[in-house]
Amino acid sequence: MPLDYDPPRVALVVGSDNYSYECITKTGEFVINIPSKKLLEKTVQCGTISGRKVNKFKKFKLTPIPAKKVKAPLIKECIGHLECKLIKSKVTKDYDLFLADVVYAWAEEGTFTDRWLIEKERAKTIHHLGGEYFTFPSKVKIREW
Ligand SMILES: Cc1cc2nc3c(=O)[nH]c(=O)nc-3n(C[C@H](O)[C@H](O)[C@H](O)COP(=O)(O)O)c2cc1C
Repeated sequence: MPLDYDPPRVALVVGSDNYSYECITKTGEFVINIPSKKLLEKTVQCGTISGRKVNKFKKFKLTPIPAKKVKAPLIKECIGHLECKLIKSKVTKDYDLFLADVVYAWAEEGTFTDRWLIEKERAKTIHHLGGEYFTFPSKVKIREW
């Protein structure tokens, strides 16, 4: 969830049983990799098994590449990457809510200007509706009648 533009900040909830939770709290860093429509199946597969059990890069044939400001890798096949540094964890005692600064951001050439260029198939981001349901953004020209 975006929180702020200046400085760019995000909030996210990561279950405390997840390996991601352990990595984020231990290192204070992480990357939000943004997959596009083409990567839907792999994205869901990555969400159904823990990195404690398998190397998901190998299992799902994804490519780690170095980030610029954090040690966590980027996923090459994603169209965008937000390199993040933790500001605060355990914001409330009931939720595993993290607040983080975005210290570096990437987008694949031709997919982003000041927003995702969703008219292009390659730039269609994935949005989870809950359960097994997902949706993709579309644009409609609004004109006055
Ligand atoms: C579509 C989808 C959305 C998910 N959203 C979240 C989420 O917002 N927060 C979370 O903690 N886990 C979420 N999960 C579950 C984790 O992805 C899952 O527990 C995963 O195995 C954790 O991997 P890790 O142990 O390597 O961190 C989601 C899973 C799916 C399939």
